[in-house]
Amino acid sequence: MVVLDYGGQYSQLIARRVRECGVFSELLPHHVGAAEVARRRPKGLILSGGPASVYADDAPKLERELLELGIPVLGICYGMQLLTRELGGEVQGAEVGEFGRSRLTVNEPGRLLAGLPEEQTCWMSHRDTVFSPPPGFTALASSTASPVAALESVEQGIYGIQFHPEVVHTPYGQQILTRFLEEICGCARNWSAGSVIEDQLEKIRAQVGDGRVICALSGGVDSSVAALLVHKAIGDQLTCVFVDHGLMRKNEGEQVITAFRDHYRVPLVAVDAEERFLARLRGVTDPEAKRKAIGEEFIRVFEEESAKLAEGGARFLVQGTLYSDVIESGGGTGAATIKSHHNVGGLPEDLEFELVEPLRALFKDEVRAVGAELGLPERLVWRQPFPGPGLAIRVVGGEATRARLDTLRDADAILQDEIRRAGLYRELWQSFCVLPDVRTVGVQGDERTYGYVVVIRAVTSDDAMTADWARLPYDLLEQIASRMINEIREVNRVVLDITSKPPGTIEWE
Ligand code: XMP
Repeated sequence: MVVLDYGGQYSQLIARRVRECGVFSELLPHHVGAAEVARRRPKGLILSGGPASVYADDAPKLERELLELGIPVLGICYGMQLLTRELGGEVQGAEVGEFGRSRLTVNEPGRLLAGLPEEQTCWMSHRDTVFSPPPGFTALASSTASPVAALESVEQGIYGIQFHPEVVHTPYGQQILTRFLEEICGCARNWSAGSVIEDQLEKIRAQVGDGRVICALSGGVDSSVAALLVHKAIGDQLTCVFVDHGLMRKNEGEQVITAFRDHYRVPLVAVDAEERFLARLRGVTDPEAKRKAIGEEFIRVFEEESAKLAEGGARFLVQGTLYSDVIESGGGTGAATIKSHHNVGGLPEDLEFELVEPLRALFKDEVRAVGAELGLPERLVWRQPFPGPGLAIRVVGGEATRARLDTLRDADAILQDEIRRAGLYRELWQSFCVLPDVRTVGVQGDERTYGYVVVIRAVTSDDAMTADWARLPYDLLEQIASRMINEIREVNRVVLDITSKPPGTIEWE
């Protein structure tokens, strides 16, 4: 299924929902052109919602050839208004918009809404409204503020709905999408984590032949799943390089090494580079200078290791690029872009490798499903995001010395332990500790202390662009604080960060 993106906030979600129905989908920008769509030989086309009014001068237009590809088309919200206007129906800016929950009344189920209740809830978000369908179309449903909330022409293979089937507030949304995919487009439900694996194994083998491949393993879910897939495809032609910069959380380095080397038997070069990194960080207090120092050192170590591989090094580099990165960098038609933004694991573009990107077609939740299918331990599959520069950017306002990193690591281990025990780990986007270079006075066992303050930072988020501070239960916070103060000699105070993003960022540096 091709989903054309007209700029709606739910466009990615439509593509994901289609895949949840077991049908592969791609999200493309609306301007790619009918030829580009046709080249993919889709079984159907979905036009997404979008923020524009169809009457605005710069509103994205509907390319007529898209309707002549001989495949069914479903317009959602703006997509339906575009179809209606193009085919001679009536769309107008209504006096009132319709935002949020609305009552949908099915007057004539037709092909698209067959089998659905006559009355149902749906989610709306629009101002322009369809008042009458184009000639030859049947109006199927109406809602509180939309005289025509769904329409179809079975003969022309064109369907439209004003509401959003992809959001959970439209309870029958998935059923409607399924009807479109199966009944109308004749799609088979054959997309799954298992099918992705089979597909990728072949592609990887075809791409690399008998070449040597290298992968920078970070312990995060993306690089872990990418490495496992490539290893499954080409076995020991792959070498993973795990650079332990000494800025990982407690025992994390060992967990990665144990999983990959001992359990999966992936050839793994583990470089203990703690000394090198700490030496580079000596005297560095500025956040960006820390990132830069760590990034440069990382590349140096990685280059040294790749040069050591037999026969002049590796030709291919595995990169854990995800479909959301592809979409953000121009929507699947452009060239591969290396994730460099924010990412210390990201390598510079002048490294002479060909990229192997086995996750390029997958959303994050699908990467997790593939990881689980490949038998990756739950701990790795569900790992919260962790920044490339690691704990160095969580020792804030000062130098990341080994002693401070150790204190932070101990505090972080207690936090993770308690959050997991409370069953909250997966619900949180991230939960971690920050160690400011600040000491405060306290009293413990009749003695005056002068110790570190640990900050607890826990946030909920969908994509890290915005985040809210997590409302952790008081009892849990108390347990965490008292364990930190009792078990870590250097710590005598614990505080909670209650800043959302914006205005704060998730990390402190
Ligand atoms: P902020 O602090 O900007 O973070 O709200 C958003 C997300 O990005 C992560 N982050 C990084 N990841 N290298 C990374 O690989 C970095 O330098 C870096 N800085 C922030 C952060 O953990 C959060 O998930």
